[in-house]
Amino acid sequence: MTYEATRDNVETYFDRTATKTWERLTSDAPVSGIRATVRAGRDRMRDVLIGQLPDDLTGARILDAGCGTGALSFELAARGADMVGVDISPQLVAIAEKRKPAGTRGTMSFSAGDMLNPALGTFDHIIAMDSMIYYSADDIARILDGLTPRLNDNMVFTVAPRTPLLMAMWRVGKLFPRSDRSPTMIPHQTAKIAAKTSGHVRDLTRVTSGFYISQALEYRP
Ligand SMILES: C[S@@+](CC[C@H](N)C(=O)[O-])C[C@H]1O[C@@H](n2cnc3c(N)ncnc32)[C@H](O)[C@@H]1O
Repeated sequence: MTYEATRDNVETYFDRTATKTWERLTSDAPVSGIRATVRAGRDRMRDVLIGQLPDDLTGARILDAGCGTGALSFELAARGADMVGVDISPQLVAIAEKRKPAGTRGTMSFSAGDMLNPALGTFDHIIAMDSMIYYSADDIARILDGLTPRLNDNMVFTVAPRTPLLMAMWRVGKLFPRSDRSPTMIPHQTAKIAAKTSGHVRDLTRVTSGFYISQALEYRP
C-alpha cells in the first residue's frame, strides 16, 4: 500500500468510523476495562515522549504530528512551547480546537492536513505519538527524511514493536478488525527503520498496558 493510500484509510477511520470512540478515549469520561488499560498506557507514553524534550520549552516551536484531539499540544504549550498541531482528520482537529485551554504560556495552532506539509514551517522538536503506527517502514523513513530539513533538534515518535504477541495478533488479523475497517497497525523492528533513514534512530522506552503495546523512538537528523 502506498503512503497516500494508508493516509487516506487512516483519515476515513479517524474522521468517520472512530471519531466518537477516539473523542471519548481521549477525555475523562469513563471507558470499559480494555479501553481503560489503553488510556492508562497512552498516559504513560505521553510522559515518556515529553520526558525526551528539554525541561524549559519556552519559545520552542514544536510540531505535534498527528495531534488527534490535542492532549500533547495542551501539555507542551502549558510548559511554554509554541505548538503547531496538525492532523489529517478535520473532525479531530475541531475537537482539539474546542478543548484548547486558555492561558497557556505558549501558543497553539491546529490545522487539518498532512504532517509532511512543508508550509507548516520549521521546528525545534517534533512529537508524533501513535500517528505512524499504520505505516510501513518505507513510509516511516519517508516521513522522517521528509521532516529532516525542517527539524533543528530531535523527533520523538512511537511504533508498534515486533513482539511475539503483536506478531501473532497481526498474523490472525486481530490488529485490523474487519468490523470497523480500522487501518492495519504494522509491527516494526527499530533497526529496520534505522537502516532506511539518513539520520539516527534509537529505542527509548516500551510501554505495555493491556492491549496497548507501544515502543517510543527518537530520531535525530
Ligand atoms: C492513534 S491517533 C493518535 C493521536 C494523538 N497523537 C494522540 O496520541 O492522542 C493517530 C493520529 O494520526 C493521524 N495521522 C495519521 N497519519 C497522518 C498524516 N500523514 N498526517 C497527519 N495526521 C496523520 C490520524 O488522523 C490520527 O488522529
